[in-house]
Amino acid sequence: MDTPSFFLLLIFLLQVLCPYCSSRTSDYLIKGSFLSVEKPSDVLVSANDDFSAGFFCVGENAFVFAVWFTKSSSPTTVWMANRDQPVNGKASRLSLLESGNLVLSDAGRATVWTSATATPSSVQLELLDTGNLVLRTSNIAVCLWQSFDSPTDTLLPQQFLTENAGLISSKSRSNHSSGYYKLYFDNDNILRLLYKSPNLSSVYWPEPWLLPWDVGRTSYNISKMAVLNSTGHFKSSDNLRFQAADCEEGPKRRLTLDPDGNIRLYSLEESEKTWVVTWQAISDPCRIHGICGANSLCNYDHILGRTCSCLQGYKIKNPNDWSGGCEPEVKISCNSSGQFHFSKLANVEFFGYDKKYFGNSTLQDCEEQCLKMCDNCKGFRFKFSNKTSAYACYCKSFLLNGHHKPSFDGDMYLKPPKPYSFTNKKSGRESLILDCRGELHVALNRTYQKPHEKKSLKFFLWLAIAVGGVELTCGFLSWCFLFWARKDPDIAAQGYSTYAGSRKFTYAELNKATRGFREEIGKGAGGVVYKGILSDHRVAAIKRLNKAGQGEAEFLVEVSFIGRLNHMNLIEMWGYCAEGRHRLLVYEYMERGSLADNLCSAAAALNWEKRFEIALGTAKGLAYLHEECLEWIMHCDIKPQNILLDSNYRAKVADFGLSKLLSRGNLNNITFSRIRGTRGYMAPEWVHKLGIPSKVDVYSYGIVVLEMVTGRGQTNILGANINGGMIEYEGVAAWVRDKVSKASLERKSDNSWIEEIVDPMMMAGKYDLARIEVLVRVALQCVEEDKEERPTMSQVVEILCAV
Ligand SMILES: *[C@@H]1O[C@H](CO)[C@@H](O)[C@H](O)[C@H]1NC(C)=O
Ligand SMILES: *[C@@H]1O[C@H](CO)[C@@H](O)[C@H](O)[C@H]1NC(C)=O
Ligand SMILES: *[C@@H]1O[C@H](CO)[C@@H](O)[C@H](O)[C@H]1NC(C)=O
Ligand SMILES: *[C@@H]1O[C@H](CO)[C@@H](O)[C@H](O)[C@H]1NC(C)=O
Ligand SMILES: *[C@@H]1O[C@H](CO)[C@@H](O)[C@H](O)[C@H]1NC(C)=O
Ligand SMILES: *[C@@H]1O[C@H](CO)[C@@H](O)[C@H](O)[C@H]1NC(C)=O
Ligand SMILES: *[C@@H]1O[C@H](CO)[C@@H](O)[C@H](O)[C@H]1NC(C)=O
Ligand SMILES: *[C@@H]1O[C@H](CO)[C@@H](O)[C@H](O)[C@H]1NC(C)=O
Ligand SMILES: *[C@@H]1O[C@H](CO)[C@@H](O)[C@H](O)[C@H]1NC(C)=O
Repeated sequence: MDTPSFFLLLIFLLQVLCPYCSSRTSDYLIKGSFLSVEKPSDVLVSANDDFSAGFFCVGENAFVFAVWFTKSSSPTTVWMANRDQPVNGKASRLSLLESGNLVLSDAGRATVWTSATATPSSVQLELLDTGNLVLRTSNIAVCLWQSFDSPTDTLLPQQFLTENAGLISSKSRSNHSSGYYKLYFDNDNILRLLYKSPNLSSVYWPEPWLLPWDVGRTSYNISKMAVLNSTGHFKSSDNLRFQAADCEEGPKRRLTLDPDGNIRLYSLEESEKTWVVTWQAISDPCRIHGICGANSLCNYDHILGRTCSCLQGYKIKNPNDWSGGCEPEVKISCNSSGQFHFSKLANVEFFGYDKKYFGNSTLQDCEEQCLKMCDNCKGFRFKFSNKTSAYACYCKSFLLNGHHKPSFDGDMYLKPPKPYSFTNKKSGRESLILDCRGELHVALNRTYQKPHEKKSLKFFLWLAIAVGGVELTCGFLSWCFLFWARKDPDIAAQGYSTYAGSRKFTYAELNKATRGFREEIGKGAGGVVYKGILSDHRVAAIKRLNKAGQGEAEFLVEVSFIGRLNHMNLIEMWGYCAEGRHRLLVYEYMERGSLADNLCSAAAALNWEKRFEIALGTAKGLAYLHEECLEWIMHCDIKPQNILLDSNYRAKVADFGLSKLLSRGNLNNITFSRIRGTRGYMAPEWVHKLGIPSKVDVYSYGIVVLEMVTGRGQTNILGANINGGMIEYEGVAAWVRDKVSKASLERKSDNSWIEEIVDPMMMAGKYDLARIEVLVRVALQCVEEDKEERPTMSQVVEILCAV
């Protein structure tokens, strides 16, 4: 190789490797440069430090280019370039081309998003203090493109909401792709909220049956423009006005169309770094359309939040997708009309879908008309109108958007698809509560394929090394990699520590806190737990995970997720450590140890009241895990060892969220239960390979409660000391069930069977037979062989709270 071509090669190498060697110092991007998904430090930061723009992780190996708030405890995205098309975690980049076009490319090849700009002059991409990402010419500030023109689900102060730029919600809290809710200016110039799914489209705000005038809006201003100012005043051209509860200069604000279909104005509480709601459009969440799907009713209460239940005679279509609604239990043909019984529901509204209207009619007429309409009438609303002073009936072709509404006049009459007597089931609970707010976390299927460009790079590298200039190249490369290797983890750590809600500890810190991992206080599926004292004198339980193979980025995503779960009956995570191969989690320390320790020791006898509170607390913790909006989690390993007690004997569930950390499998894939789960507490469907997520925890919970009441652990029962034979499953459950059925056979009217089963240690103190009976019956329901018969955790909470 001659000299000129060698220098050409060197220049080529410098160009290729340069982005890795020099850390970017400027906070804007110029022509010919790019941000790489692989370098967490590749972010643009606004001058006031409030916002960052860069690649944001939204799933397994899935990233979007986003702008987010850096000052909240977990980063809050306010804009996304490619929310519906996340890119690969390797080789994807956002480049500002020489042509002036801003291009987001996936794994180096396909273009996923572009700003569609072009200019011969020099331009720069910059993040302003307002959170606006702008592409503008360097000398005179001519704006070519700005993120404020294409909002996603959030409007920031000073950003205009216009005819062409409405807000679209995210699919869910964990899935950032476009959801079904939309805030937009309609053709009549009114700002509205719309639910639009593949099958349905309906406006629900402002109330669709009211005229704009009645809700203080005007349709005569055609400018179609709305804006929020920094003091929290919102003003729209249709005359809609509102203000934040804390309207003053100061807090950071955002107006977001949340995944549940409500618009909320948030303020950032600086000290706590959390968002507080200072205004919302709709106070009754059940009024939002599209929540529960067809043939179901939406319920809201302050403890359980929003739940859905199927109407009588209907069953859930897809337990993992609430919007699918319910379907008839039995398909019945229209001509078997004699079998229908209309059932009345008072103060329940099903919005829309009035197929026919009959003015002056009696209840009997209505029923006949509805029957005649066959499948086109699922029920009707029967209402007295004082205008005509007669009853009118509205036959409904679909039962959608159902919810209780005390002020709703008229009654609904439903035509159940099944004879009434059949649906009247034993338990008195005809409707099954959907795991309404749950959602399976689906990992994106994105396998990374090496782009060819890498191969050619390797080839050139070898060529360069083989041909002369070996020393120079080697020297240069080793210096470069040394610099890079020394620098990168640090930058990565800084970049990511803001991602997780909890504190990052160094390995050395934790090593010191535990005095070299000396005092072991427990051992679980994931690893060993040590007691430690942190530098701020707090006592902590430090779990060292066995499986250290997981990548740091993925680990941090999971940890930040666990860190966001806050409930008084869940153990609190204070921080984590991810250094090299070490993966550790730092939790609060529980003085009284685990429930298992307390049940075994005679000295620390738990009295009846404590046991009941522990059962209730555990149920609350699990209900939160299963049904809170955050994300769908199952525990998979409920047992007395994983229920910890604080100094007041309050129960806190531990070890949750680890099923994701330890095994990143599909939640429906049963094989990983071999790692989780503990024999004796595992639901039969694990064994029979019919996994239905949350009901598995319900089973384990039932077993734990029975053990608590009877004082018999699995070890006592599984041995030969009960019936002489080995009882693989249902040890304690079968024993209790046997006692109960014997008692009912002998028609014992009193509760003497309870005295036979309760833990003798509990007999010492006072106990309440009626409450024990409720607890035992609930527990027995939880361990039903058939998972459909088991209640959900929130139903358990409801029952236990009621006694
Ligand atoms: C839409 O409606 C069709 C026919 O009614 C149904 O088969 C499909 O499952 C529905 N899709 C959704 C998402 O509800
Ligand atoms: C925001 O709007 C309100 C009402 O129009 C006004 O009183 C207030 O001064 C505005 N604040 C700022 C910072 O412009
Ligand atoms: C229409 O609304 C805009 C924005 O709120 C306002 O500036 C303008 O004065 C309004 N026009 C009329 C005719 O009211
Ligand atoms: C009425 O139902 C019977 C079965 O019960 C069926 O054979 C018949 O075709 C139905 N008639 C009509 C008109 O749908
Ligand atoms: C309603 O129907 C009844 C019986 O057919 C009739 O007597 C009455 O006048 C009707 N009322 C009105 C308002 O049409
Ligand atoms: C209908 O009756 C209600 C209560 O009896 C009354 O408040 C309302 O004004 C009446 N409406 C009309 C249109 O007469
Ligand atoms: C998010 O939702 C979309 C649309 O339903 C789906 O295609 C995508 O796979 C989901 N992404 C994740 C990470 O669950
Ligand atoms: C995931 O991608 C791989 C390779 O592209 C493909 O073979 C597999 O079928 C995909 N799986 C799903 C669930 O789409
Ligand atoms: C479940 O996971 C295991 C191991 O991760 C895999 O071999 C198996 O194919 C998966 N089964 C299904 C049904 O996805």
